[in-house]
Amino acid sequence: MGLSKTFSASDVSVHSTYASRYIRDKPAKYKIPENSTPKEVAYQVINDELMLDGKPRLNLASFVTTWMEPECDKLIMDSLNKNYVDMDEYPVTTELQNRCVNMIADLFNAPHKESDEAATGTGTVGSSEAIMLAGLAFKRKWQIKRKAEGKPYDKPNIVTGANVQVCWEKFARYFEVELKEVKVREDYYIMDPAKAVEMVDENTICVAAILGSTYNGEFEDVKLLNDLLLEKNKQTGWDTPIHVDAASGGFIAPFLYPELEWDFRLPLVKSINVSGHKYGLVYAGIGWIIWRSKEDLPEDLIFHINYLGAEQPTFTLNFSKGSSQIIAQYYQLIRQGFEGYRNIMENCHNNAMVLKAGLEKTERFKILSKDIGVPVVAFSLKDTSRYNEHMVSEHLRRFGWIVPAYSMPEDAKHVALLRVVIREDFSCTLAERLVFDVTHVLNELDRQAATAVNGSKCVY
Ligand SMILES: Cc1ncc(COP(=O)(O)O)c(C=O)c1O
Repeated sequence: MGLSKTFSASDVSVHSTYASRYIRDKPAKYKIPENSTPKEVAYQVINDELMLDGKPRLNLASFVTTWMEPECDKLIMDSLNKNYVDMDEYPVTTELQNRCVNMIADLFNAPHKESDEAATGTGTVGSSEAIMLAGLAFKRKWQIKRKAEGKPYDKPNIVTGANVQVCWEKFARYFEVELKEVKVREDYYIMDPAKAVEMVDENTICVAAILGSTYNGEFEDVKLLNDLLLEKNKQTGWDTPIHVDAASGGFIAPFLYPELEWDFRLPLVKSINVSGHKYGLVYAGIGWIIWRSKEDLPEDLIFHINYLGAEQPTFTLNFSKGSSQIIAQYYQLIRQGFEGYRNIMENCHNNAMVLKAGLEKTERFKILSKDIGVPVVAFSLKDTSRYNEHMVSEHLRRFGWIVPAYSMPEDAKHVALLRVVIREDFSCTLAERLVFDVTHVLNELDRQAATAVNGSKCVY
């Protein structure tokens, strides 16, 4: 009688993955394993470990889209194997990206195609890449002008608020541009336009305003900045331009506040970035940069490459990238239309108001976000003598909620806050549920604080 095979040597496909030796093996961490692993085991092992990640839809820290319609998921899956840079091979994908650029430029009130100024732009991996490209274009334009005037061109700077997102600091460090930050202060957490204009000098390549501060969602006053800067430019003879970082607000303001002037309606606004993967309603991996006109993008930054059969103009930091996100953006633009985006943004705003009202009702929080802005609710504890925002954040994790606690920028660093980003898939039910759980956490922390005090008196 033959011996049956030992179970570790037998074909894994006839056993449960959990009956195989692979479950006893430590995961490969430092070296590619010597032998192959059956595909169902590889899947199971990775999937099991990933269970310990947070749930994306309960990740209220992020502006980035966590839900899309199954029809769009299908388009994304169908195009996962297309490299966007192969434009000659995938001309329709290129055409879809160009249509997205046209539509977003129009949404931002770019001068019309028929006029002398015709907007131009490109898809990027996100707002960070878009900002790198915008910053480079400003730097190059300024350098060209300074060279032509015979003036030094080695000390460029950008004026921003201290509340800028970290990608601006990255740009400044990587591309050797000084970041001159307007300080924020308690109860004023965005860039003050008057102070920004005061800081502008002949080396300023642009002033960067934010439509939707990362900290509390507040819109900066781009119109006032434009008016003050026009005046300064008139007095000095400079022509300092404005860039608007509309990473989050670019898909909010046109739908909820169409009369608000923050975009190409203002003459000094030369470029705008927006994250398609935030309120553009696409999964992570897509951003957009739009220039008011071709003149605002120096020609020598555009690469005309001959690749796989045709000449292609490109202006991106990366070469290869996936096509899916561009296709998904086009899906959202035509699927939602203006009407759909407006309805979704209105819902987000209303749900933010429900959450804000619920938090106010507890009488324990000060609200630091504004009703007009990106739909986020930023709030801090009125009384931090017994516990702080970080402890509230930690306790909320037990219920599955991911609500970050962090500090305001320099000069208001003593202000800590919690921030909830309201996305499309955060319903009124979830808003009410979150208030319920926050209240629960507060009661629990109150009890623990009381026990600590009483405990020290040895009452038990
Ligand atoms: C105002 C602002 N700018 C830029 C960024 C960076 O955007 P992305 O994540 O698309 O690179 C963010 C991200 O939150 C942001 O809030």
